[in-house]
Amino acid sequence: MILAAQLSDTHFDLTPRNTERVERVMAYLADLPRRPDVILVTGDITDSGKPEQYAEARLALQADIPLYLLPGNHDDRVAFRTDLLGEPASTAPINSVHRVGPLTVIMLDSSIPGEPSGLLAEETYDWLRATLADAPPEGPILLALHHPPKPVASPVVDVIALAEPSRLAAVVAGDPRILGVLTGHAHSPIATVFAGKPMICCPSTASVLGGAWEVTLPHKVMDYAPDPAIALHVIDETHTLTTHFRTVAMGGWLAEPPV
Ligand SMILES: [Fe+2]
Ligand SMILES: [Fe+2]
Repeated sequence: MILAAQLSDTHFDLTPRNTERVERVMAYLADLPRRPDVILVTGDITDSGKPEQYAEARLALQADIPLYLLPGNHDDRVAFRTDLLGEPASTAPINSVHRVGPLTVIMLDSSIPGEPSGLLAEETYDWLRATLADAPPEGPILLALHHPPKPVASPVVDVIALAEPSRLAAVVAGDPRILGVLTGHAHSPIATVFAGKPMICCPSTASVLGGAWEVTLPHKVMDYAPDPAIALHVIDETHTLTTHFRTVAMGGWLAEPPV
C-alpha cells in the first residue's frame, strides 16, 4: 500500500492563521503511526505570490517525508522557483515527475500567469507525452494539477476551471496506467469522474468554498470557520485509488467523546 497525503490551497498570506493551520496539518501527518509515503501540495501555495509568502511556506512545509508542490492561479512562477524551490528564476511551467515506490506522480502546472483560470501549455503537453513514455510500463500513475478539468457544481470555480479539458481527457482515458486525477482550486473535498477515472479535489487548509446550493454572491462565498482539511490517497496492490478526507482539528485529538 502507498499512502499519499494531499494538501492544497494553503494561501500563505503573512498572517499567523494560515501558517498555524498548515503547521497543525504537518504535525498531524508527522504523528501518524503509519506515515504517508509522500505529501503533495496542489497549488495556491501563497495568496498573492510574494517572495515573503514563499519563505513562510518553505518553513511551514518542511517534512522528512518527500514533499512535492505545484503552482495555482494565486502563485507566481518566478518567486515559486526562487523562494520556495530554491531554483533559478524562470517563467516556464513548473512541471515535475516523482517516483514513490511503484507509483509515478506527474504534477502539471495549469496556471496562466496573471489569470485565475487554467490551461495546460503546449510545452506541458509535450513534456507530459515524453514523461508518460518514460514511466514504468506497469504503472500506476497519478496526475495532479491545480485546476479541475471539469465542472464541480461550484459557481466560483467552474468559471475559472481548466480550459480545453478534452485534450487532457484524451490523455487520461488513453493511458490505462493513469489511476486518477488530483486537483486543488475548489477549496472543497469533491469526488467525481473525469475521462472515466476518479477525479478528486482536495480541500483547502485555509477555507471552504461553497457549492452551488450554498453560495450567495457576493457576500456568502468563502467560509473561514471550518478547521483545515486534507485528502489521504491509498493506492493498493490492485492499483485502485481510495481516498479518505480528513479534517485536522485545530483543537487537537480527542480520545473520548466530549461530555
Ligand atoms: Fe485557492
Ligand atoms: Fe486556485
